[in-house]
Amino acid sequence: MAHKPTVLIVDDEPDLVELVKLTLERMNLATAAAGDLATARRLLGEKRFELCLADMRLPDGDGLDLVAWIQQHQPQVPVAVITAHGNVETAVRALKAGAFDFVSKPLDLGVLRRLVAVAIRLGADDGAESARVGPQLLGGSPAMDALRALIARVARSQAPVHISGESGTGKDLVARLIHSSGARREGPFIPVNCGAIPTELMESELFGYKRGSFTGAVSDKQGLVQSAEGGTLFLDEVADLPLHMQVKLLRVIQEKTVRPVGEQREQPIDVRVLSATHKNLASLVQAGKFREDLYYRINVIDIRVPALREHASDIPELAAALLRRLSRRLGGEAPALGEDALAALQDYGFPGNVRELENILERALTLCAGEQIGVADLQLRAAPSGAAAEGDAASIVKAAAAGADTSGSDLGDQLEHIERDAILKALEQTRYNKTAAARLLGITFRALRYKVKKLRIE
Ligand SMILES: Nc1ncnc2c1ncn2[C@@H]1O[C@H](COP(=O)(O)OP(=O)(O)OP(=O)(O)O)[C@@H](O)[C@H]1O
Ligand SMILES: [Mg+2]
Repeated sequence: MAHKPTVLIVDDEPDLVELVKLTLERMNLATAAAGDLATARRLLGEKRFELCLADMRLPDGDGLDLVAWIQQHQPQVPVAVITAHGNVETAVRALKAGAFDFVSKPLDLGVLRRLVAVAIRLGADDGAESARVGPQLLGGSPAMDALRALIARVARSQAPVHISGESGTGKDLVARLIHSSGARREGPFIPVNCGAIPTELMESELFGYKRGSFTGAVSDKQGLVQSAEGGTLFLDEVADLPLHMQVKLLRVIQEKTVRPVGEQREQPIDVRVLSATHKNLASLVQAGKFREDLYYRINVIDIRVPALREHASDIPELAAALLRRLSRRLGGEAPALGEDALAALQDYGFPGNVRELENILERALTLCAGEQIGVADLQLRAAPSGAAAEGDAASIVKAAAAGADTSGSDLGDQLEHIERDAILKALEQTRYNKTAAARLLGITFRALRYKVKKLRIE
């Protein structure tokens, strides 16, 4: 007979155990119960469990001890904790200790059912390394090995993850990989660029609205948060989230509820929250620009993506892979990278990281006449390594912007031409996301808007 997935419930309140049992049995799961830590440890040693649900307060210790014990002795068993209402500190501690999720009391059975469903799927994935499509994290350096291992580990958890790192290091890629290697991979992955949504639209874009809540709200509208139901919400540039939106986001993480604009009631929501920024969130907290409580919650697990110069040994592999990808897009054979060119790349500081490497290679591909890319085709600028992160085109635009008003003169025309090129490239690269393009260029959104108008781009 096939093994029926079994859940171990660790709680000393008989009523609660009964309620959880009934709920799980209706989901066609088997259950076992333990009233204290000692019994729980014994049962875990004797039988196979697909999930352990542990209350925080137990007669002979607390749930955190059990979480730690399971991490050590039975790491394949996902464990979730049941916390007292509003006790988020404990929930955060449990997540850091290795719990994959938490549910708060009084139990919302819908929340419980979803949590259990995710956990059971987690178990079923074991060993069956699913065929993954889409881009992968390349590079055989120790730094990339460690990053891949970390991604695999956090993919099993439901805890919020914050991804930090310089511009162009691969934060976006890391977020997608966490989603696509976890139990939510069949669910949606919803990336939201918090810096790109105008402040006045932010609340309704993120949380949706109820019909009639303001002029123009002719029907209910789902927010981005709701559209991530069952999947992952990726808040990119989370540092740009205005303070009043930070409060609402806190509720999504803490209470697992969301309230659309004009709606009276909170609605339950099941999303995993990932976030990223190239800014230093801790110092923004210090400056009062980012809520400390939210920082603490989105940052339960922190992944730092290293700058390219910190794993420069990956440059040959990355360059070759990127060249193949770029050439495929252009419909030709990938030219080889000359030895001198490769050496120059390995010496270069890459303030714009992997994205800059991509840009350099794309340009080289266009410039290169023969079968081999030479050092001249790379057009590397002499940048001090470790300089402020900015895209490669940035210096050109900045140089142009720094010049006096030269319109009419030859130089002015030339600069305009260069500026237009750089801006178009940045826009294309960011799929016409002006905020991202501006960042890539190292200029403000306003400056970009001005230039776009002035140069009559679009
Ligand atoms: N290790 C890697 N292997 C393969 N591709 C990579 C790697 N790191 C980054 N890339 C590629 O580099 C480009 C930039 O990465 P990504 O967009 O994820 O950066 P980011 O950190 O989100 O940048 P930003 O801060 O500007 O948003 C992407 O095309 C990504 O696929
Ligand atoms: Mg990004």
